[in-house]
Amino acid sequence: MSTATDPKPVRIGIVVGSTRVVRVGPQIAAFVRSLVEQDLKTAPVDSLSIEFETVDIGALNLPLFDEPGVPSHTDVPDGYAHEHTRAWSRRVSALDAFIFVTAQHNWGVPAGLKNAIDYLFKEWQGKPFVVVSYGGHGGTHAANALQLILGGGIRMRAADKTVNLSFPSREVTLQAVRGKDLGLSPSGRETIWSERAEDVVQLWRQLVALMTTPMKETKAAA
Ligand SMILES: Cc1cc2nc3c(=O)[nH]c(=O)nc-3n(C[C@H](O)[C@H](O)[C@H](O)COP(=O)(O)O)c2cc1C
Repeated sequence: MSTATDPKPVRIGIVVGSTRVVRVGPQIAAFVRSLVEQDLKTAPVDSLSIEFETVDIGALNLPLFDEPGVPSHTDVPDGYAHEHTRAWSRRVSALDAFIFVTAQHNWGVPAGLKNAIDYLFKEWQGKPFVVVSYGGHGGTHAANALQLILGGGIRMRAADKTVNLSFPSREVTLQAVRGKDLGLSPSGRETIWSERAEDVVQLWRQLVALMTTPMKETKAAA
C-alpha cells in the first residue's frame, strides 16, 4: 500500500511508432516491455518507483501537423490552438522518460511518429530516451534518425546506443509485413530474438542510468 511519503513514481512511456492498420509494432513493444519488467523484478532500481505506459501513436489519430504556432515557442499546453494537441501535450508531460519502439520506413522514421513528435517540444525536452528499432536490417537508419531528432533537435537525453532488431529471414519479414504473430514470448527466451534479449536489458539499464543522473552530468547528444 502506498503512503504519503512514497516517492512520486517515475512514469516511462513505451512508444509504439508504427501506425499501420496491419502491423507488428505492438507485439514488439510488448516484448520489449516484458523484458524490462522482468529485469526490474530481478534488479529493482532502489531509488525509483517505476510505472510504464504504452503510448500507441497509431491510436492517437493526430492529423497532419496543424498548429499555427511553432511548438518550441508555445506555452504548454494552453498556447496550442487545438484540443488534440493539448491532450497529446498533457499525456507526454505526464511521462518522465521514453522507450521508442519503431519500424523503419524507406530508411527513415515512420511519418506518423515524426508528426507526433513535431507536435510538441517542451514536453519532450530534457527527458531521457532510448530507441529500439526493427526491420529487415534492424531499422538502423530510423534509429539513427531518431537519435538525431530527439537527442539533437529537441535536446532530449539520448543513450549512447540503440538496439536494432533484424527480422531473421525473408519469411519472418513477410509475416511482419502482414502483421502476423511473430511468437515473441513474454519471457523473451526461445524467440527469433532470444539472443537479443540481453541487449534490450542493457539498453534499459542505460535509460535507468540517464534517469538517475542529474542532467548537468550527462553530455548533450551530438
Ligand atoms: C512505407 C514502408 C516503408 C518501409 N521501409 C522499410 C525499410 O526502409 N527498411 C526495412 O527493413 N523495412 C521497411 N519496411 C518494411 C517494414 O519493416 C515491415 O513492414 C514492418 O512490419 C513494419 O513494422 P510494423 O508492422 O510495426 O508497421 C517498410 C514498410 C512500409 C509500410
